[in-house]
Formats: sequence, structure tokens, C-alpha cells
Amino acid sequence: MSRRIINLSSSSKKQIKGCIEVPGDKSISHRAIIISSIAKGKTKIYNYLDSEDVNATITACKAMGVHIEKDNESLIIDGNNLSRISGDDVEFNFGNSGTSMRLMMGVLSAQNISSVLLGDESLNQRPMDRISKPLIKMNADIKTSDDTPPVSITPVKKIINVDHYEEIASAQIKSSILLAGLYGEDELSIKTPPSRDHTEIMLREFNCNIFNDSDSIKMKPSRLQSPETINIPGDLSSAAFFIVGAILAKDSEVTVKNIGLNPLRTGFIEILSMMGADVSIFDLKTVNGEQVGSLTAKSSNLKGIKIPKSLIASSIDELPLIVLAGSQANGKTSIRNAKELRVKESDRISSMIKMMKRFDVSVDEFDDGMDIFGGSINGTSINSFGDHRIAMTAIIASLVSNGDIIVEDCQNIDTSFPTFIELSNTIGMDIQNHD
Ligand code: S3P
Repeated sequence: MSRRIINLSSSSKKQIKGCIEVPGDKSISHRAIIISSIAKGKTKIYNYLDSEDVNATITACKAMGVHIEKDNESLIIDGNNLSRISGDDVEFNFGNSGTSMRLMMGVLSAQNISSVLLGDESLNQRPMDRISKPLIKMNADIKTSDDTPPVSITPVKKIINVDHYEEIASAQIKSSILLAGLYGEDELSIKTPPSRDHTEIMLREFNCNIFNDSDSIKMKPSRLQSPETINIPGDLSSAAFFIVGAILAKDSEVTVKNIGLNPLRTGFIEILSMMGADVSIFDLKTVNGEQVGSLTAKSSNLKGIKIPKSLIASSIDELPLIVLAGSQANGKTSIRNAKELRVKESDRISSMIKMMKRFDVSVDEFDDGMDIFGGSINGTSINSFGDHRIAMTAIIASLVSNGDIIVEDCQNIDTSFPTFIELSNTIGMDIQNHD
């Protein structure tokens, strides 16, 4: 797929102020759509994220024959009650979306159709054996191309539920196992280190017999019944750009309302608090099983810290922003045990090392992380390395840089946060599009 290239420039040293909402959570949107598609009954999903990644999931569910309608405020999905679809072979293109491909591998391995799953240049380089291996243990017939897409799935007579042990703290791995397991006849269990539990929470909303504690999950054979409506909170990973922006910029204060605050996603808030950031949470409530609330972040002086291993999985998508925060902290910030960053939309350790060096910030690279030494950031131009979170982190860096920052190749922002530029400019940034 060839796409137009978008280059952005962002003026330096702006103050940001305001009270905003951000679009719906990406991880929860994928799960709401997939689980509604295979449940019994109609589900109306409010505040889903209308972005390229989530649209890849919608397109895939429609290609499975599920009826999905959009009105101006919601998605209405008429689920197929776990019926195993049959028909012609289907080719699925998931674009940049690893979550769509990996979760759908679980669903597709239980259908009576053959499928081929492809992605864009970045996704086609990402590891898939971590998903196919446990699914093969469940009798699925899946082939990857040397660990990467295209992934080919051939129908099998039945999915067999077994006990799994998974050493990687990955929500995508456990979710694909659970989604395939819905089509099996026996109890299924997974032992794995903690990672975001949106799939478990969403399945419970659909009446599934599923129990989880910090490192184990048990799912009994269940039918899925639609709860009729699902309300998705704002995406904390999108809010994170403005939270870190407000902390780093001078005389700034930003409140983000109605965001997901699932404790397995809030690691970066704990890290920022340890670094001395002024962040407060209020209006906490539970919506469709998820913790939701509002948060205010204010300009703060930060100190460098050693990031605890226990906070890596719950801050994994925000670590590029923690690197940026480290560049503005007093002393050294150390990140380790974060090798998973190397297999995200880009190798995020390498991307952030290159970004920091380009900014004249002193850094040391390690196989599983990096050290960042607080200093000043020089205005420059930088590439996004094809990665939406790297592009947006570089834009936020302009709030503290000596001179404007130009970020090349930013069209990938549309995969997760299509209104990022507009929203940034309403709170005081000055981002211009130079496509
Ligand atoms: C996600 C899980 C995480 C995260 C990704 C979204 C999800 O990946 O990095 O952006 O929605 O399940 P892993 O499961 O690979 O850790």
C-alpha cells in the first residue's frame, strides 16, 4: 500500500494548558469489536477509536461475514454466536496493526475457512511464532514465514483447550489463546506474568466464565452473551503525550477527562511520580469492568531514576515518553528488562537512541534498554522510523527543545491517534503540516 508522506514541524517552547478528552482506547476497541462479533446478540459500542488500526479489525470481522454498522456515535455489531464460518479462502490485510493480526489469529484458527494474514512493511517484520506456537498446541494449523507474516491458517476439526505457560508478559499472546479457546470444549488455563487484562475484563462483560489473578487465568467453556452496550474510555496511551508534555513544558497544566486507568496500563504514571512529577487522579469509577477516571498533570522538576522491572510491562507503550522525560530529568534514568521494545512498530530502543543522539542528549544503549542522561534538546529534523509513538514523542519534545522540531514520515499517527495534531494545537502547541 503506497501512502502519502506527511512531514510535521512543531514550534519550540510552547506552554500547554487545557481540559481535554482523547479518543477511545485502542486495545479495548479491538477487543470490543472482536468479542461482539463472535457473541450472541447485538452490541452498541460507544466511543470506539476510529483509526486505521481499529478499522483493520472492523474490516477483518466484516470479511468473516459479521454485520457491522457505523452511525455517528457508535458501532452496532450483530454477533455470530461462536458459529464457525465456512466458505472461500480469505486474505486479510491488517496494515500496521499487530493487535488486529495477533488477536484475529486466535479467532481464525477456529474457523472453517483457510486464511492468509498480511500486514504493511513494519508488521510484516514482526514476530508471529509467539502466537502460532501456543495455537498449534491447541491443534490449530498455522504456518508463519520464518516467524513473520504472511501467516497461513488452514481449518482443523476442533480446537483443543490445554494448559499454557507463557514467559513473555504479552496481552496479545494470552488474548489470542483465549479467543481460540472459546471454540474449545474443555477448561483452559494460562500461567503468565501480568500484562493488560482487557480481554479477560471484556469476556466477563459478555458473561464468559473466566477468572484471573496477577499471573494466572482460567476459562471454563462458555457461550458469549452481548451486554447490549459497551462504553470505551479514552486511551491513556494517547493521553500520555499530553501528560508528559504538561510535566515537561514550563507553566503548563493539562487535565484529561474520562480515560482508562486499568492498573496494568498505569505504569508510566507511577514512574513519573517516582521521578517527582505532579500528577493527580480523580473521579475514579468502573465502566464495563474497566477503571476510568480523570487526571491532571502540571509542570514539574524531574529527577532521574532506575525504573523498576515490575513497572515495565504496564508502561511498555509509554517508554519512549519516559525516555524523553529522562532527557529532562536531573541525573541518569535507567531502563532495563525492556527487550520487548525491540519488536514493536519499530525497534523502539534503537529509534529512541537515534532520536536522543539527534537531539544531542547523551544516551547509552543496552540490549534490553538504555541509560539517558538529563540535558538539553536541540531543535532538528528527525524521522519517525515508521512508528506512530516515536513520531508523537518527537513532536512533544518540541515543548522543551531549543529550536523547532521537524518530524518526517508522520502519516503513521493515523494508526492510533488521528486527531493528535488538532488536539495538540487546541492546548497551545503549534504543529504545522508540510506534506
Ligand atoms: C497490546 C499489547 C501490547 C502493546 C500493544 C497493544 C494489546 O503488546 O504493546 O501496543 O492491545 O494487546 P504485547 O502484547 O506484545 O505486549
